[in-house]
Formats: sequence, structure tokens, C-alpha cells
Amino acid sequence: MEKKPIRRIGILTSGGDAPGMNAVIRAVVRTATAHGISVLGIRRGYSGLINGDIMELSARSVDGIIRKGGTMLYTARCKEMMTEEGLQKAVDTCKYLGIDGLICCGGDGTFRGAQALSRLGVPCIGVPGTIDNDIVCTDYTIGFDSACNTAVECIDKLRDTMQSHERCSVVEVMGRRAGHLALNVGCAVGATATLLPEQEVDFDVDVIDKMRTGRIKGRNHHIIIVAEGYGSAQSVADRIHENTGIDTRVTILGHIQRGGTPTAQDRIMATRMGYWAVKCIEEGKSKRIVVFDKNAISDIDIEEGLAKTKTLNGNLLEAQLTVAI
Ligand code: F6P
Repeated sequence: MEKKPIRRIGILTSGGDAPGMNAVIRAVVRTATAHGISVLGIRRGYSGLINGDIMELSARSVDGIIRKGGTMLYTARCKEMMTEEGLQKAVDTCKYLGIDGLICCGGDGTFRGAQALSRLGVPCIGVPGTIDNDIVCTDYTIGFDSACNTAVECIDKLRDTMQSHERCSVVEVMGRRAGHLALNVGCAVGATATLLPEQEVDFDVDVIDKMRTGRIKGRNHHIIIVAEGYGSAQSVADRIHENTGIDTRVTILGHIQRGGTPTAQDRIMATRMGYWAVKCIEEGKSKRIVVFDKNAISDIDIEEGLAKTKTLNGNLLEAQLTVAI
């Protein structure tokens, strides 16, 4: 069968924003332009697709955005996209605008939307953009490295004041139901303990006893990382205080982790993945997610990709537990 020529593509960012999404937009626009394809930016994710909220993008309109956090196309979590009516409206917009393929940057929810649209005849390619790094089929998601670095910078500052006051800092790190961000941050800040949703801990042994032993051996302050999916940081802090008497403070890093200048790693991955996504559409592919697997960029069927399971990095977990004494 002859391949349909690609004349115009669309790009949207959806779900929680992530540093590096702008770099994806830039890579998509520049690759498409270099190949003679025009690009429409769809604002506010799927909600913009449903409502026809669009803007023309050119190589020059994405100048300078590689270093900017957030997303110039805005983002949204769109409930209407989960209804048949909303989905049909989105398909109609694509037909009306002559969109031959759509690149959707975001997380799980974004890919489910892309899957549904692909089934209705709109070729879609997903690009993983989320600070959580919780997309099962890819080792890396855009925004993860920047979020890690932001969290580490904040926690290093907390450590200074905890050390001066001989306190314990309990820090809640984002990640929704996954502990990847918390585990990496815990390792990088040298946390006494990192509490993750994927891993059962014996609180008395792994946290309280460790802190008591630490105090005997001269450790005068502690950093405890709590993944948001583990549970309440405040209850962790209360339990620590009741059992050890150590003065404890809680910090919820929250959305600060989603903002800021993307790191070099995120800009590079965004460029590689955005480029790959356009190539996928040009090759006539649909219903695929661009992934980073075995140290290389490739793509995988959305359904197959989302059906996989992702575990925490065992080697990192072991190393982190061993050195946190
Ligand atoms: O998925 C990214 C993320 O930042 C999660 O870590 C967090 O649970 C969630 O989004 C917060 O969502 P919102 O910005 O809608 O509050």
C-alpha cells in the first residue's frame, strides 16, 4: 500500500507539565519544517483539540524555548476526552484541520487519549513527558532529570538548617503512585531513609532504629524522603518525634519540582524523542510511544507499552540502602 504523504501534523502537551516539554515542541517543529511538513500547535492538550484551540508554529516561533520550563502550548487534564462525544469532536477537529498525524507529549492519560484517537483513524505518536518517570515501557521520561535536580537543590538547603538545629527533615517528593523520583532524590541527597510506595519497610527497624544508632554514632541530623505515594509526611514526622524525641520538620516540595529550566539531559532527550516522533509519522506509524530502552531511542505500540510493568531500579535501591548508614 502506498504511504500517504504527510503535509501537516499537530502537537499537544497534556497532563502535568514537565521541564523539557518546550524542547519537544521545538524538536517536532524544526524536524517537520526541515522535511517540508507544516505544524499546528494545539493549546491546552486534548481540550484544545476538542475546541479547536490552535496556533500555527514555525521554526522561528520556537526560537529560544529549549531553555524554558513549562509548556508554551499550555496543558490540561481533559475529562471530556474520556467520553465518546469528546473523542469524536477531537477526531472531527483533526479532519477539519487536515492533520495527518498528531504528536502527544505527556504521561499515561495522554497516551490513552492517543490510543483512542489512533483507533478512530488519527495517527498518533506519544512522547513521554512527566517528572514521575512512571511510564512502564520507557527507562526515561522527559522532565525527570530536571525535577530530580530541583528537589536535590532544595533538600541540600534544608540540610544546612537541619544540621545547625540538629533536627530531622521529612521531605515529601512528588511521583504520584510511583517512587522513582523519590528513590533517585533520596540517593542523591544521602537520605537516612527513603520511604517508597513499592517497598515495604519495617518502620521501627528501618527508620527509628537507624536514627537511634546514627545518633549514638554522632549523626546529629537526618533527611527522610517520603514519596507522595507512600503516605503522609506529617504522620511519618510525628512517628519519628514520638519514638526518638528528635525535633522534626516537614517540607512538601510540591509543584516547585515541576518548574524551572530543563537540564541538559532533558533538553537532549526531548530533542531526540521529538525528532523520532516526527520520523514515526512520516514512516506511516500510528499508536506508538517513543521510548528510551537499552540506551537507545525506539518506539513501541501503545497498548503493548502500557501493559508492561515497571519496577524500581534494583541496583540503585540496594546501593542506596547500603550507603544510608
Ligand atoms: O504526574 C506529575 C505530577 O506532578 C505528580 O507527581 C503529582 O501527583 C501530580 O502530577 C499533581 O498533579 P496536579 O498538578 O494536577 O496537582
